[in-house]
Amino acid sequence: MENLRPVTLITGASAGIGAALAHVFARNGHRLVLVARRAAKLDALAAEIAGAGGQRPLVLPLDLERPGAARNIANVLGAQGMEPQFIVNNAGFGLVGQAAALKSDEQIAMIDLNVRTLTELSLGFIDSLARHRGGLLNVASVAGFLPGPGMAVYYATKAYVISFSEALHREWQPLGVRVTALCPGPVSTEFAARAGVDGDYASSIFSVAAERVAEQGYRGLMQGRRLVVPGFANKLVTSLVRFVPRNMLLAAVALRQSRRRPAPGS
Ligand SMILES: NC(=O)c1ccc[n+]([C@@H]2O[C@H](COP(=O)([O-])OP(=O)(O)OC[C@H]3O[C@@H](n4cnc5c(N)ncnc54)[C@H](OP(=O)(O)O)[C@@H]3O)[C@@H](O)[C@H]2O)c1
Repeated sequence: MENLRPVTLITGASAGIGAALAHVFARNGHRLVLVARRAAKLDALAAEIAGAGGQRPLVLPLDLERPGAARNIANVLGAQGMEPQFIVNNAGFGLVGQAAALKSDEQIAMIDLNVRTLTELSLGFIDSLARHRGGLLNVASVAGFLPGPGMAVYYATKAYVISFSEALHREWQPLGVRVTALCPGPVSTEFAARAGVDGDYASSIFSVAAERVAEQGYRGLMQGRRLVVPGFANKLVTSLVRFVPRNMLLAAVALRQSRRRPAPGS
């Protein structure tokens, strides 16, 4: 057990915020294990990181919606003589639309990925996280601070991630394990297309680049912060929501989601 090499496991590393997080962790000397479904994208990222002088990441193509994904990861890591020092639960997706109109099985799959697998990976490696005095970075969202008509299940999954991560932050302090919930606002990635809407955030005051989100998430985790909300406008929103009547928030979010344009070509 003592000979297992400590690694940083990053889920959803094939695109967007996860790929940006992989670059930041690699630049800071972490040995990475990259997980997502698209093997070719993970291979390309691993080659890029190795080409930039980082240690070549281990690539693990896996569908994290499937039951037993966390156990599979543990088995592969054990067989490779590795164990996690840091885990970044970043893989996730959302769907825009009325909950009753969206496909039920897709919404349940979202809960499988955003909630169940995130929970399994968070709890499944506590011994090795503690042994290496490492940490857990769970990617939530500004959405987790709000009720989400028009994106109901997604907002609810992110509320779970914030609540769960804050509780672990407290519970694992005595073990020397850092737990941070990273809560971005809009970020230009593949997220919007997957959610079925146009994702042009260029003019939004809430939008922050994936690289900045990743930098701030990394720094916040290393500093042992409970929550990281990148961007001034997002910080303001997450601070003020507690003073706004819930009915007003429901109306504002419903209006915002109803105005989203469908993704080009959909
Ligand atoms: N973009 C935003 O505006 C925004 C705002 C707040 C929070 N977030 C959160 O940030 C996180 C990353 O999102 P992103 O914006 O970077 O989106 P993205 O560009 O769509 O990336 C999502 C990542 O998750 C992976 N993934 C999706 N389903 C998976 C599955 N079943 N098994 C394994 N991996 C899977 C994808 O890889 P494969 O397709 O290769 O599997 C991809 O690497 C998510 O948790 C999201 O909720 C995003």
